[in-house]
Amino acid sequence: MRLDRFVGKWAGTGKRRTREIFEAGRVRLNGDVPDEPGTEVGKFDRVEVDDEILQALTPRYVMMHKPLGIVSATVDEEHQTVIDLIKEDWAGELHLAGRLDRHTSGLVVLTNNSVFSESLTEPSEKVGKVYLVEVDGPITEEVISAFEEGMWFAKEQVTTAPAQVELLADSECRLTIYEGKHHQVKRMFSRFGLKVTRLHREAIGKLQLPGDLMPGEWMKFLP
Ligand code: URA
Repeated sequence: MRLDRFVGKWAGTGKRRTREIFEAGRVRLNGDVPDEPGTEVGKFDRVEVDDEILQALTPRYVMMHKPLGIVSATVDEEHQTVIDLIKEDWAGELHLAGRLDRHTSGLVVLTNNSVFSESLTEPSEKVGKVYLVEVDGPITEEVISAFEEGMWFAKEQVTTAPAQVELLADSECRLTIYEGKHHQVKRMFSRFGLKVTRLHREAIGKLQLPGDLMPGEWMKFLP
């Protein structure tokens, strides 16, 4: 929204009275008197009139090592959630940039900036999600080729982007996928009769789970 509309709405004034508020130098945008009352105001811009703060929201970016058993949601009736692990008064502002299943561990990103979270989760952004996967049988060439070609998901009516598979052992691989469909990794392996026995997310794009961030711990970062 334009700054002058924002201030006018708050003051309950029409265009002329709002212009007077600006001309009197009473408005500050991020600490400065703005040159242009028509400037667009973003969610994280600080807006003040005289001594009153109209808007001041700190952008928050958190990486967490999600432990097994914790739910990737903001609220849950039954289980502890990732938000419950952040004992800060701002925790309730956060949302998840991509979920993990309850029995998956590893990197989750939380933020109050939806532009940032969408840049990680939108399939068109082609951000790689890197998983360590263990399954209950051999990962054959057939499985690897199918993943590398992309797979048709009828429920969502999409073909997944070509995935990358680095075979680490007969039944263990590092898998990079570019979407976050519900149970995607488990569903990919189940096509070949393989059950995922361990799933751990190591990275989302350039964001690596720090080696010293223990399960249940979190840290702030700047994107
Ligand atoms: N794929 C899954 O099946 N589960 C996850 O938690 C993440 C990706």
